[in-house]
Amino acid sequence: MLTCRRFLISITIFLLLFFGCKSGTPQLTFAVGGASNEVEYWERIVAAFADSTKIDVVLLRQPTDTDQRRQGLVIPLRSRQPDPDVFLMDVIWVGQFAASDWLQPLDSMVATGDVNLADFFEPIVNQVDTYQDSLYALPVYNDCGLLYFRKDLLVKYGLKPPVTWQQLIQSADFVQKNERVTNPSFFGFVWQGAQYEGLVCNFLEFAASNNGGITDSAGRIIVYTPENIEAADLMYDLIHKHKISPPNTYTEMKEEETRLTFENGNALYERNWPYAWALHNKDGSRVRGKVAVALLPRGRKGQHAATLGGWHIGISKFSDSKAEAMMLLKFVLSYATQKKLALNLGWNPGRSDLYEDTDVRIRMPHLGVLKNAFEHAVARPTSPYYTQISEILQQNQNAALSGRSLSDEALAKAQREIDEILQRYNE
Ligand code: GLC
Repeated sequence: MLTCRRFLISITIFLLLFFGCKSGTPQLTFAVGGASNEVEYWERIVAAFADSTKIDVVLLRQPTDTDQRRQGLVIPLRSRQPDPDVFLMDVIWVGQFAASDWLQPLDSMVATGDVNLADFFEPIVNQVDTYQDSLYALPVYNDCGLLYFRKDLLVKYGLKPPVTWQQLIQSADFVQKNERVTNPSFFGFVWQGAQYEGLVCNFLEFAASNNGGITDSAGRIIVYTPENIEAADLMYDLIHKHKISPPNTYTEMKEEETRLTFENGNALYERNWPYAWALHNKDGSRVRGKVAVALLPRGRKGQHAATLGGWHIGISKFSDSKAEAMMLLKFVLSYATQKKLALNLGWNPGRSDLYEDTDVRIRMPHLGVLKNAFEHAVARPTSPYYTQISEILQQNQNAALSGRSLSDEALAKAQREIDEILQRYNE
């Protein structure tokens, strides 16, 4: 009798193992997001992975907005669900995810030689991906804010790309007035001002280009400064005084809204991330071949500045397929895959060795500007409480942009609220 029960249990386990996996092959869930062309391209990458490893990957398609993407991951991770096994993380979440003990350490991948840390940018790996001496993520691509401009229109009006915000305002105003004669939807400058993380990135650039910022040299979060108030005033003025940025800047403008406005031929200047390059130049784009990039302008008191962004890949601590997940990471971070992502999506590779690749150099003629922009990159704070800090900044900056409060009041209120949060956590 006992033998018979054992036999039945063994058969059940065998059947579960066999049929539990789709057609006998292991399956991974990989959460990705971004613009629709980016998500589509991930389908091709995971199909190539499945071909070579016989491991199926189901893509969990997330939205474009980083805050919504984070929310979509926090829910399964908090409840320790095994899916998604692998996900992309915004550069600003990695510290918090690692501190929450949601990520599988990747040190064994380094030990086995599956990844070689020397292939990546050391400061990024140290600052973003390492937590308490363990490695928890690696960069798939690095982002930094860029100024896209219509080179055909600058030539038409005999203008040069702006170096200062003042020059940007003057030239945008001039071109807008002239272009409006035939195109009433035309705006001088589009950027991200809606209430979400992108607004903090834009604010940081205006602030840092005016010698301000979010953190001081000791790493404390200081936002209520004269330089920052001046920067917030400039952002307000672009919409309400100079009227070169559309009135929906603070209600609707995120990356994709900005990109589409520019791509439809309705703007002279655009602030966006490197991903917009490939889309602006794709077949059917109205601005194909008419676009160039420059550093974002500098302010009265400061230097050029670009917010450091980017997306890093990691494995859930609760994944039930960690060995397969590591194979996927190895594949995504390989030279060949990273090269495809750079060439097809215009992503700024996470691997440093690709910047010397001849094909990449030819197909990404703006790589020089990108490199320069990285030299001016400003990071957001890496605190595990960054999400709360960012929410406070988003609300108050958006209030200042809309005119619901003065820049001075909004930043003073943001500082008080941030101080309260940090005191609560004894920071
Ligand atoms: C980009 C950046 C990311 C940033 C986000 C803001 O995706 O890579 O770091 O937080 O934009 O919208």
